[in-house]
Amino acid sequence: MTVTRPDDRPLLSLTPVSREGYRHGSRSYLTCLFKCGNACDHPEPNRTTAGHVQDEIAKAVARRSVLRGAAVGTGALVLGGASATAAAQVPPAAAATAPLAAAGGPLARSRFAPVPPNRRDAVVLPDGFDHHVIIRWGDPVVAGAAAFTPYDLTVDVVKKTFGYNNDYVGVVPLGRDTALMTVNHEYDDQTLMYPAGRYTEEEMAWFGIYSHGLSVVTIKRGAVPGSWYREKNLRKAGHNRRINADTTFVMTGPAAGHELLRTSADSSGRRVKGTLNNCAGGTTPWGTVLSGEENFNQYFNTEGTVPGGVTLASGATLADAYTRYGIAKAAGDPRKWHKYDPRFDLEAEPNEVHRFGWVVEVDPMNPTEAPRKHSMLGRFKHEGASVTIAKNGRAVAYLGDDERGDYLYKFVSAEKYDARRTKAARRHNKTLLSKGTLYVAKLTGNDAGAPEAPYDGTGEWIRLCTDTQSFVDGMTVAEVLVFTRQAADLVSPTRMDRPEDVEVNPVNKRVYAALTNNSNRGSSYPADEANPVTTSGTRTSPGAPLVNQSGNRNGYVLEITPDKGDHAARTFSWDLLLVCGDPESPETYFAGFDKSQVSRISCPDNVTFDSAGNLWISTDGAPTPMGQNDGLFRVPVAGPERGHVEAFLSVPKGAECCGPLVYDGDRSLFFAPQHPGEIGGSTFDAPASTWPHTDDFPRPSVCVAYRQR
Ligand code: FEO
Ligand code: CA
Ligand code: CA
Repeated sequence: MTVTRPDDRPLLSLTPVSREGYRHGSRSYLTCLFKCGNACDHPEPNRTTAGHVQDEIAKAVARRSVLRGAAVGTGALVLGGASATAAAQVPPAAAATAPLAAAGGPLARSRFAPVPPNRRDAVVLPDGFDHHVIIRWGDPVVAGAAAFTPYDLTVDVVKKTFGYNNDYVGVVPLGRDTALMTVNHEYDDQTLMYPAGRYTEEEMAWFGIYSHGLSVVTIKRGAVPGSWYREKNLRKAGHNRRINADTTFVMTGPAAGHELLRTSADSSGRRVKGTLNNCAGGTTPWGTVLSGEENFNQYFNTEGTVPGGVTLASGATLADAYTRYGIAKAAGDPRKWHKYDPRFDLEAEPNEVHRFGWVVEVDPMNPTEAPRKHSMLGRFKHEGASVTIAKNGRAVAYLGDDERGDYLYKFVSAEKYDARRTKAARRHNKTLLSKGTLYVAKLTGNDAGAPEAPYDGTGEWIRLCTDTQSFVDGMTVAEVLVFTRQAADLVSPTRMDRPEDVEVNPVNKRVYAALTNNSNRGSSYPADEANPVTTSGTRTSPGAPLVNQSGNRNGYVLEITPDKGDHAARTFSWDLLLVCGDPESPETYFAGFDKSQVSRISCPDNVTFDSAGNLWISTDGAPTPMGQNDGLFRVPVAGPERGHVEAFLSVPKGAECCGPLVYDGDRSLFFAPQHPGEIGGSTFDAPASTWPHTDDFPRPSVCVAYRQR
């Protein structure tokens, strides 16, 4: 099925996006409620004051004033509205002739006219590229499902069909013309999934529980190079799998079996049903897929009393731990799963919540194998996990804790990666994430202040524990891993502006982290050189008043260079590649590239790379500060076009752009518009989006884009 671009609407809406239906966290009311349980309304779980060097802040602010003057002096282009369209559609002078990159396939090399900011209910791509939907919410994944319809849903159908709100997309080759696509299903949204009044609270609870998890889907090449389609004959799709709340996960690593993980249903503390709020992820060098359990706290609640008195070895109580993870008795809980399944009741099962918040590993090649939850990678709101192999052969995973003011982490395996393509090597590699060392990052500004790198400095990976030894006073290894946030608080890392995806560039081997935004930066705690913006002025259309919004509203992309290029090293240098936002705004920075040539970008979320090393950035939250749909952007990180941000596509109204993956020799771009139509006031019956326009309600779907033949 090909969804074509509806051309009856102006590409660029000149109407400022209504601020109604949006809120301070750069997301819609619905997204806040269902995606993260209104995390921004709660007190920030991190109450530490560590990680801020006051004198550096003063210097950073002073330097910003200098930069502001410089930007004005060089005639920063006013973007927004029609002028943005004109500016964005004119490729830079050098662009017309030479390909962007010397190496790589079409997505790395092609010049394209960037997609202008818009509010269309469509996927918008540059001329010369096509896309189609591969799989939608409700499409069959495994055999035996009755036909999906949201008007007459059953739990059995939900268990066997593609779940809601596709996020990370990992693809591993199967045969010459087939591959296995593994997709996260982050969260459910009752307002957009069901007709009003059609189902009871309990029915929606069970549909919701089973709408989470992951899907493994067999895909096959299409006739047009770079195109891929779902294998609809499920008899030919023996690897297909719908991982859901019935799936048993095995805990690995030092915390497996610990009493903090034991429940009435699992006295072993080793076998967990299901996975929740799986956001981003990573595909390992050994061909498995990692997935981060993110805002898991919101699914747990109680009508009774939240337990809290248990004293841990650290002297902290269970109440302290719950608070640090945002786990609480919540009046505004829209799901109320605890009323229908006691394992989500904090009073009945105080340890069940400790069995979520991990990185999980799925082997798509082994559809009957239990997926695993790796305690060695720590427990927090894991955005994702990206693995690279260090010079000494150790597997290194970079990790982000997506919470305002929380931390960046790294894991280094104890054992070496075995690069041989044997079954024994693969078996060995699948054990790498259960033993090693967990670190947390401290970033120090060097205040060099050079215009070519105004925000930069050095950093240190602080050890938290190995599989046998804790480096945190008063905490055992298991406690460091189950209560990683509290362990990290004790060693004074740097509080970051919501670390999202952290991935390694396969060409220059540097690490790129999306720091999406932080409404509290500058109020709850001050700026520092790595998190420098506290207030940004933004316009939603030309002539509209400048809205002063508190905090860092548009986010950064952080670039980390491990010392001596060694990912196992304890030290690194860093700089901000991008300070996102309207290029007109003085605080923005695009690695020194001419601001008049870049696309407007806000709220970077997921990152990936093409084979030439260009960075691809998807966004989540741009509608509020920028008045434009979210999208996907390509940015060279080397050469004269380093920092040249260009919008490659925008996703439909109300959606964020998840799962970007450049695949198949840079011919295929997989992307996953999540929560189309999730705008305040939008409902299943009166949705703000009907994308992908196959029904009269929206359906989150995974797509692939490719060059037109
Ligand atoms: Fe699911 Fe951190 O975004
Ligand atoms: Ca994310
Ligand atoms: Ca996201």
